[in-house]
Amino acid sequence: MPDSRARMRINPSILAADFVNMERDLGSIRTADLVHVDVMDNHFVPNLTFGPQMVERIQAVSAIPLDVHLMIDDPERWAPGYAELGAYSVTFHAEATDEPVALARRLREIGARAGIALKPDTPVDDYLELLEEFDQVLVMTVEPGFGGQSFMASTMPKLERLRSAVASAGLDVWLQVDGGITQQTIATAARAGANTFVAGSSVFNSDDPAAQITALRNAASSAATDSASNLDQ
Ligand code: DX5
Ligand code: ZN
Repeated sequence: MPDSRARMRINPSILAADFVNMERDLGSIRTADLVHVDVMDNHFVPNLTFGPQMVERIQAVSAIPLDVHLMIDDPERWAPGYAELGAYSVTFHAEATDEPVALARRLREIGARAGIALKPDTPVDDYLELLEEFDQVLVMTVEPGFGGQSFMASTMPKLERLRSAVASAGLDVWLQVDGGITQQTIATAARAGANTFVAGSSVFNSDDPAAQITALRNAASSAATDSASNLDQ
């Protein structure tokens, strides 16, 4: 088994946190791997959230590094700023740029991990040959824009293709899913090859977010282990 699959990462999405108690809510997810920050511009998606100044403050008070998901137009203009303010990972949407490789290289030069995100209807084909240019591919499992939607299992074939392309190229590209991840759906995504899971409402609507993160990680690990041992047989 590749190591990248053994380590399951859970990134809570603060879209589901209480925006006026952000520091408190950040303190409730100490078991998280990264903090997922959904930047929306009310243009690429019909919703509006944080800009660079708020993300900079969130970063300043968060003990856990940031996984920034840019649901914005014109990422060439804005994405480098998130890398410069120190985000650990910056993911832009494939549908929002004609120059994904150039933008990923720019982000890496600044020192961030570079991610590319695909909406549910965006085919993965064009990106399978470009995987070495990215540290992460985000397969959206809902239409981007809002938390609390239902997981779309129809996106799983894209993950399976990514997983086998990453394995045959011998790369360690993180495969992330985002949208509708719960203790039930996480197993489906883990079996299809995801190793990095964004969860908003299932973490922050829980009475004990830190324990919920651990439970999600365990569910992902056992699903991936089961599917690996089935493959070995
Ligand atoms: C949706 C965002 C997600 C959202 C996930 O556009 O990208 O990160 O917060 O929320 P849940 O986990 O509630 O589906
Ligand atoms: Zn997101």
